[in-house]
Amino acid sequence: MKSALSIATLLSILPASFAANFTLVQSYQGSEFFSGWDFTNNFDNTTNGDVEFVDPTLNSSYSNLAFVDSSGHAIIKVDNTTFVPYPDKRDSIKITSKQFYGPGTVWIFDANHMPYGCAVWPSFWTKGLNWPAQGEIDIVEGINLMQNNQMALHTFSGCSAASGTDQTGTAGTTNCNSTGDAGCTVSENAPNSFGAGFASAGGGVWATQFDVSGIYIWFWTRATVPASITTATDSLDISSWGPPSAAYPASGCDISSFFGAQQLVIDITLCGDWAGVPSIYVPQCGGNVSQANTCYVTSVINAGSPNFDQAYFDINYIKAFGVNSSVVSTPSGGSLMPTATGANGQPSGSSTPSSGKSSATTDRKAEHWYSIAGAGVLALLGLMTTL
Ligand SMILES: *[C@@H]1O[C@H](CO)[C@@H](O)[C@H](O)[C@H]1NC(C)=O
Ligand SMILES: *[C@@H]1O[C@H](CO)[C@@H](O)[C@H](O)[C@H]1NC(C)=O
Ligand SMILES: *[C@@H]1O[C@H](CO)[C@@H](O)[C@H](O)[C@H]1NC(C)=O
Repeated sequence: MKSALSIATLLSILPASFAANFTLVQSYQGSEFFSGWDFTNNFDNTTNGDVEFVDPTLNSSYSNLAFVDSSGHAIIKVDNTTFVPYPDKRDSIKITSKQFYGPGTVWIFDANHMPYGCAVWPSFWTKGLNWPAQGEIDIVEGINLMQNNQMALHTFSGCSAASGTDQTGTAGTTNCNSTGDAGCTVSENAPNSFGAGFASAGGGVWATQFDVSGIYIWFWTRATVPASITTATDSLDISSWGPPSAAYPASGCDISSFFGAQQLVIDITLCGDWAGVPSIYVPQCGGNVSQANTCYVTSVINAGSPNFDQAYFDINYIKAFGVNSSVVSTPSGGSLMPTATGANGQPSGSSTPSSGKSSATTDRKAEHWYSIAGAGVLALLGLMTTL
């Protein structure tokens, strides 16, 4: 009961700048949507997915995978028109924003459709220049036929999701340490936050506040998106939003220490370290749990349709609002190489065929990293969502 909370508790769980007015600092929308991003031109070398991320700016034959449609929506999709023979990978898209955003930012992500289907693993997330030293925020993420979005933070050791926070989602693991855990996860409880349900409800909106006082993620299905968002133009007032789906207050995680300025990322991979784990994939999608690469051979190869017909983002806009314009930066120096430490682990059975279009790397796992231990937790979460 809210009334049972002391004022002190209440104050400690409210975002410090909850009443602040934010100013529009960047908009990704319409025909200019893709100009604010760089395309990855590489196979998935961070989560071991069975995709080749392609760059339509280098080869226009890929422009059917990332384009702005006649309604002005940004479409980002998996190739569903190519017959992919074993052991090749399937083409997909990963984009990273040119801009980085410091604490004091609120991002709004408005989509009509999220990718889903067997093997499909999409995400809208953020990461610092150095991973995991500067943190990762997973705002929208799910796999296969999951129906509920899962949010998470990934950091170095020492950051956790505080207990007793005023959030509407269900907490999973609370340790945000990326090198031995799945990150600190919160599962969305509002209906239609992922998969077919999200699309049939007309999509929805996520808002993420990245603040020194904490990191907070809200979700609204289309019919309940607040007027403060639908009418926001140059400024945004977040004071009436109520409790977020996921709350990571600074009492559990010193945001200033564990998070640097964040770059936005949108990607769709296939199988890999989460969607492709046999104990997670098979209960949702079938196949033989003991077959090598069961997700890959069951879902990825051969014809792309109909399995990947729903594997696309349809995005109305992404906007960044800041306490002031200096939240935006474009790092000029520094290494883009992640600084991951510790042993690599890979859930058994999710390895990628080592020949073909691109070979799997042994220098794998950097950002977005899941350990064997993490996969166990994720397996449980995956099973829970099917119950
Ligand atoms: C691929 O998927 C799109 C929707 O994302 C669909 O319109 C199209 O018909 C599919 N292509 C084929 C060859 O089936
Ligand atoms: C902008 O906001 C940040 C974060 O609150 C603050 O540290 C900085 O001093 C502000 N800059 C200006 C120019 O107001
Ligand atoms: C993945 O590939 C990209 C592009 O070649 C490269 O910049 C990056 O360092 C690679 N990451 C890992 C973890 O190998």
